Amino acid sequence: MRDLSLSQDLLDWYDRHARDLPWRVSPSDRARGVAPDPYRVWLSEVMLQQTTVAAVRDYFRAFTERWPTVAALAAAEDADVMAAWAGLGYYARARNLLKCARAVVSEHGGTFPASHEALLKLPGIGRYTAAAVSAIAFDDPQVVVDGNVERVMARLHDEHTPLPAAKGVLTDYAAVLTPSERPGDYAQAVMDLGATICTPKRPACGLCPWRRACRGWSEGTAAELPKKSPK
Ligand code: ADE
Repeated sequence: MRDLSLSQDLLDWYDRHARDLPWRVSPSDRARGVAPDPYRVWLSEVMLQQTTVAAVRDYFRAFTERWPTVAALAAAEDADVMAAWAGLGYYARARNLLKCARAVVSEHGGTFPASHEALLKLPGIGRYTAAAVSAIAFDDPQVVVDGNVERVMARLHDEHTPLPAAKGVLTDYAAVLTPSERPGDYAQAVMDLGATICTPKRPACGLCPWRRACRGWSEGTAAELPKKSPK
């Protein structure tokens, strides 16, 4: 069952508080019909895996100035891309980035496929990235779950099962809330909520658009969630 009133509350909040990020189309531009460039959405999502927004901003600008399209990136020298990636870490991501860009050119004529299944088949695109690109670039209501979303869902439902065992149930909670209207804005709104309000330490519950429904807030447990199994 969907809970669209909660999703709508979050979208209303996002309309007022969306972060201005270089890869993002603002909610007002989207409402006017401006579509995000799937290449920029994909590139930002790959860069943001295990790296903060603050660290990614300048790299994203440098990459998109030098390689403005997926075809330009596909034609780059490996060594140039690896050098431009230096400092972002996790270099397997850069190698997969090139593989994926080249597959988009050789298998899809230089245009990212709009279907979630086709995205999943591309090298280096896993479940999270396929769902994020589907939702953000193509407004396909895929369920997007990253660490931010897991934290927000654990708190909203006062879910004490530790991660990673809780992943399935947290994904189910996220699915119930994913709207078929504006799923791209919704996916980015949950990420912004997790990054700016429902933060890992000292969440700013007083400012949260979901406080009225949040069991972590009413039980006083929000800051302790999600629980994690000892490694
Ligand atoms: N973290 C990962 N993807 C993001 C996005 N699209 N916007 C903001 N934060 C993110």
